[in-house]
Amino acid sequence: MSTIDNPRDHWNARFAADDYYFGTEPNRFLCEHAALLPKSGRVLAVADGEGRNGVWLAEQGLDVLSIDFSPLALAKARKLARERGVKLETAEPISPNGVGPSRVHCGGGDLHPVRGAGAARPIFAGVKRALKPGGMLLLQGYRPKQLEYKTGGPPIAENLYTEELLRAAFADLEIVELASHDDPIHEGRGHDGMSALIDLVARKSG
Ligand SMILES: C[S@@+](CC[C@H](N)C(=O)[O-])C[C@H]1O[C@@H](n2cnc3c(N)ncnc32)[C@H](O)[C@@H]1O
Repeated sequence: MSTIDNPRDHWNARFAADDYYFGTEPNRFLCEHAALLPKSGRVLAVADGEGRNGVWLAEQGLDVLSIDFSPLALAKARKLARERGVKLETAEPISPNGVGPSRVHCGGGDLHPVRGAGAARPIFAGVKRALKPGGMLLLQGYRPKQLEYKTGGPPIAENLYTEELLRAAFADLEIVELASHDDPIHEGRGHDGMSALIDLVARKSG
């Protein structure tokens, strides 16, 4: 079986080197929305990889649970947190497509769930379950046009997002912001160059 057939092995292989594949600086979209974050409380950083976003959220005074199915990524996330002097709790999801814990306030940025297709993908349901009433979801992904740029992101269209797909997937949340834009990003070796991005900010009512 190739590592593409097994996404967990694929990501573990990417994270095996000593360096940080997506760098150690947080995602720009996440930082630009810092004003939306609560002053304290619980945050879930979904598919947090090597922890650059989860660690930044912890530096904002939040109580962060960083979830990823790559144990190698989570080990590097814990190392980054130690180096930056913040507390970061890490966990592998119970189900590879699920998001386990509840009572969280919001998801982190730059999420690229890779399993499942379309608006009904299980990871979206898990994210919505995990949000507490009033909790915010911040998500940045790639649009199908990214297949032309080839500067990072999943190589198959079904793992890319459109406004239509995200509107349908999060129809039960209040959509605060949904924007498609092309901009350069420079995030380690993984995301580097002009990119077809999509940003979502949504709130669970209550
Ligand atoms: C493009 S990387 C982004 C990592 C991190 N959010 C960042 O921006 O640096 C996607 C991450 O999703 C994780 N991942 C993919 N599918 C997953 C799943 N079904 N459950 C948990 N983690 C998953 C991978 O291990 C990888 O760390």
